[in-house]
Amino acid sequence: MIADSIPTPGAPLPRGGGASVIVLSILLLTIAVVPAQAQEARPTVSSDEPLQRIVFGSCAVQDRPQPIWTPILAEDPDLFIFGGDNIYGDTANMDTLRHEYSRLAAKPGYQKLRQTTPILATWDDHDFGANDMGGWYEQKETSEEIFLDFFDVPEDSPRRQRPGVYGAHRYGPPGKRVQIILLDTRYFRDRFETVELSEEAEERGFGPYAPNRDPDATMLGAAQWEWLRAQLQKPAEVRLIVSSIQVVSPDHGWEIWSQMPLERARLFRMIEETGAGGVLFLSGDVHWGELSRYTGGPYPLYDFTSSALNQEWPQAKNLPNPLRVGDTIYPYPNYGSVTIDWSREDPRIRMRLHDKEGASVLSHTVALSELQPTSE
Ligand SMILES: [Fe+2]
Repeated sequence: MIADSIPTPGAPLPRGGGASVIVLSILLLTIAVVPAQAQEARPTVSSDEPLQRIVFGSCAVQDRPQPIWTPILAEDPDLFIFGGDNIYGDTANMDTLRHEYSRLAAKPGYQKLRQTTPILATWDDHDFGANDMGGWYEQKETSEEIFLDFFDVPEDSPRRQRPGVYGAHRYGPPGKRVQIILLDTRYFRDRFETVELSEEAEERGFGPYAPNRDPDATMLGAAQWEWLRAQLQKPAEVRLIVSSIQVVSPDHGWEIWSQMPLERARLFRMIEETGAGGVLFLSGDVHWGELSRYTGGPYPLYDFTSSALNQEWPQAKNLPNPLRVGDTIYPYPNYGSVTIDWSREDPRIRMRLHDKEGASVLSHTVALSELQPTSE
């Protein structure tokens, strides 16, 4: 429906053609020659110093150049978070999936990042399995193993003991703790409804999905929901909840939490019930960057979207979002940074979206005191 050269949020990327024998030969050769990433010691987050600079991004096409690693490396982040669609695997063939990861591993910029910066990751549809795929993906167990191996998740991590790649970490000393909660919005997810799009809606950039209001339909699955509640009850001052898909944005027809409104409401309610302060959502997937704010929760809930690392989708410019903060919607290559200034009595959190040169195209600062439930 849209030119091949411009992948839409939902569309699989055009794949290279060519004689299958040659492709297979190259594939086998590459699998043989490019080993899994070497098992050298990985950089770790300091346990004494508070986290101050977190950079994140999503949607990185592995068969195109990724020049954006240069400004990301220049940020010298304390932590980099991959928010999903970290590669475009789009396959049920696990050798192909491994091969596509190896193409990311071969990017000099990514290699440098991996050598210098702690990396956390969750996945989205394209690295989980295939376009818009959910819990019905048949290869999800093997795909999970490949993902956890690629991102150096330790053998003894709880993430390896259960289905799904969700996980959480807390960093920093008491009073300045940052909790990173990585959700898995794919492994357990049920299907959304679909709609027949009018030509006008299509031109305006809307997607084909509609809300699934079935009370049994799940986004996270029962075990992950239970786990999330326990995480939100752990003490932390700032909590970055990484959801591959947008949490706050109202329905634009693509894969977002609004397509399961009961689950979205449950998420906001859980934050309220647990009394968890300091929540910010980080999201990706859509091929644009923006900041949204939901004011119906216990305090303003921000959803900071950064997508894509090396793709653009200019049509998105017309998409409305009444919950957008300011009027910036940036559908060109970008990454996000979250900087926490702990030196102030009321710490400040600055969210910035950066273009492919590193320049700021969106900036918004909140005081940590604004992200607290009001005591009654
Ligand atoms: Fe996606």
